[in-house]
Amino acid sequence: MQRIVSGMRSTGKLHFGHYLGVIQNWVKLQHEYESYFFVADWHALTTKYDKTETLKQDVKDVVADWLACGIDPEVSTIYVQSLVPEIAELNVYLSMVTPQNWVERDPTLKDMAKILRTKEGTNSQISYGLMGYPVLMSADIMMFNAHAVPVGNDQVAHIEITRDIARRFNNIYKTDFFNEPKPLLNDCSLICGLDGNKMGKSFQNDIKISDTEEVTAKKIMTAITDRSRLRRDDLGHPEQCEVAFKYWKIFGDENQVETVRCECEKGKRGCADCKRQLGALINEKFAPIREKRKYYDEHPEEVERIIKEGSEKARIEARKTIEKVREIIGMY
Ligand code: TRP
Ligand code: SF4
Repeated sequence: MQRIVSGMRSTGKLHFGHYLGVIQNWVKLQHEYESYFFVADWHALTTKYDKTETLKQDVKDVVADWLACGIDPEVSTIYVQSLVPEIAELNVYLSMVTPQNWVERDPTLKDMAKILRTKEGTNSQISYGLMGYPVLMSADIMMFNAHAVPVGNDQVAHIEITRDIARRFNNIYKTDFFNEPKPLLNDCSLICGLDGNKMGKSFQNDIKISDTEEVTAKKIMTAITDRSRLRRDDLGHPEQCEVAFKYWKIFGDENQVETVRCECEKGKRGCADCKRQLGALINEKFAPIREKRKYYDEHPEEVERIIKEGSEKARIEARKTIEKVREIIGMY
């Protein structure tokens, strides 16, 4: 079976964008590939090294969300990056063979640097560790010699660097040990935030997987609709309904979407009612996930056990890779 590796930074509770854009895809892929999913807590430190108070809880929240969404610890290996210190050792070897200008021209990193520069204080500095972001990612991926990496579009540039590093390592040490992993893009629809912009934790326009039914319903009521519509019997334009109708298309079936479209266009559907129905539909769809999420909230020791066992399992494979890499390089 081919292998995949993928991770998410430990940003705390995940939102619908994570679920629809990434996790849903992982849940499916875990049965087609030998899968390694990890929380990238070192990558979180590249920009938040001075904000570590919530780090432990953030890691647990990410894993609890994954479990609730259907990542199965019996099927996939779930672990925390920093609990597999062999990754740091591989990072050292890879950093030696990576030309400096390869990391400097990484476009995703350039964007991150730009955002950082607009902040104030010591954290506006681009650290040496942040420059190494794509190399550390390469270590994550190459540690398990992944064939493919299921990620969103924004990560593809990083994976390109990983392929380059793997090829260069093989060339330098005259080996074919490392695969050149391919990005595995998914065809999931991108969900926008409640305000119509990209959904993101820092924009406060997100719906969390762990939000309660009440909170979810309330948030849906704030979704932007057709701005030209003032009264209930004004004729609506579903295609110009910025958020609510887009959500209908993601969560509703064909019939439901057609009903909403017709009634909206004929002025037979008020936006408040429309969003109340939408909220109810979303809550119904997420009920099983919510229930599992609640279970893990009430049983944190189970999440801890899964993290510990998964990380130990990952380490066994990681040790094998490191031994082999040390031998290939010619370390003492
Ligand atoms: N950079 C990724 C993100 O921000 C997280 C990540 C770290 C990752 N290492 C990885 C993803 C290795 C895939 C493979 O989401
Ligand atoms: Fe959007 Fe529904 Fe209002 Fe039409 S009725 S504009 S689809 S919220």
